Amino acid sequence: MQERDWDRVAGTFEEEIFNVPANDRKGLIPLAVRRYASKEAVATDLGCGVGRTLPLLSNHFGKVYAVDVSSECLTIAAEACVDRTNICYVHADLSTDRNSYPAADLVLCINTLLNASIEVREPLIDRTCRSVKRGGRLLLVVPSLNSSIAHRVPAPAMEPARWHGSGRRQKSGRAQ
Ligand SMILES: C[S@@+](CC[C@H](N)C(=O)[O-])C[C@H]1O[C@@H](n2cnc3c(N)ncnc32)[C@H](O)[C@@H]1O
Repeated sequence: MQERDWDRVAGTFEEEIFNVPANDRKGLIPLAVRRYASKEAVATDLGCGVGRTLPLLSNHFGKVYAVDVSSECLTIAAEACVDRTNICYVHADLSTDRNSYPAADLVLCINTLLNASIEVREPLIDRTCRSVKRGGRLLLVVPSLNSSIAHRVPAPAMEPARWHGSGRRQKSGRAQ
């Protein structure tokens, strides 16, 4: 997806875009954020979308940079966090722009590195790493290989018995 696609989806983001923080059943994201929290420190939400994780970062860090390629998403994020004075919104394309925000002590990057093209993904990864201060932390969430496979493989082939089977096959060809 490109900038215009993310702009288009901004208004229906909550219905259309999988909510990682809401499905973080073990609370790993807030746990990691709290671990590195400091009011003296800077955090960046890279590909912040409509700002689901901005309140968490804003509560625990002195300054927060909310970075996204979609100005529509940034507008919604800013409206949702209007009372928070420590968030700075930055419109940037991580695949092309030079970083226009300072490197942070903690960078949170949830499902932003999604692009299938290696030409786009490499600079994205490079700029993500450059967004972290020396000695800082990167909290990175990327889609699992399984979600990609599940997306492509037709539903019947995803039956658990086949998927997790021992590999031995019956005469019918079904895995046991
Ligand atoms: C799947 S959404 C995740 C949003 C948010 N991190 C969350 O967990 O709700 C991916 C976000 O990354 C942003 N994004 C995608 N490519 C980007 C790029 N090249 N530069 C900056 N942001 C990008 C999109 O605009 C979108 O808001």
